[in-house]
Amino acid sequence: MIPHYYNYELMKQLNGNKQMTDVWRLPAIARWEKSCGKHPTQKPLGVLTRLIQASTKPGAWILDPFSGSSTTGIAANLLGRRYLGLEIEEEFLSMSKARREEIENEGIRNNYLERLTNAKAILPPDYSYVADEMELNYGVPWLQE
Ligand SMILES: C[S@@+](CC[C@H](N)C(=O)[O-])C[C@H]1O[C@@H](n2cnc3c(N)ncnc32)[C@H](O)[C@@H]1O
Repeated sequence: MIPHYYNYELMKQLNGNKQMTDVWRLPAIARWEKSCGKHPTQKPLGVLTRLIQASTKPGAWILDPFSGSSTTGIAANLLGRRYLGLEIEEEFLSMSKARREEIENEGIRNNYLERLTNAKAILPPDYSYVADEMELNYGVPWLQE
């Protein structure tokens, strides 16, 4: 069993040294987050990065069985966490791969981290970038033809 983890101190710092509440004010999804195409229910990177920093340590594995455009995976990799995503639609899988390839570029990666930091979604510099750790698979293997 994996014990519950909550990074109380980090969340407090993000909230101006007051305990983080369960109401978060973060920017809506922006155009720069859709640089590799549009997913109908894509989530803002700011939400996922904060969730990941609140509940995992660097190097953790994160699973999203309904990956979509892999916002969870991009947030995970930006923050030095590893990611396994499952997605049934090839179009969204391609979008996920493109997003993953995009953050291979150091300039783009740093730009994303800066935007997220400025939006107070994450705090630097407790991340370390994990390359080649994002794996994407089609659906559940035993359900494939
Ligand atoms: C709500 S969306 C996820 C959006 C994602 N959080 C993002 O930010 O892009 C759910 C995704 O699950 C996928 N999906 C639905 N059924 C699935 C299944 N059986 N196996 C894998 N993926 C599935 C859909 O194609 C859809 O892209």
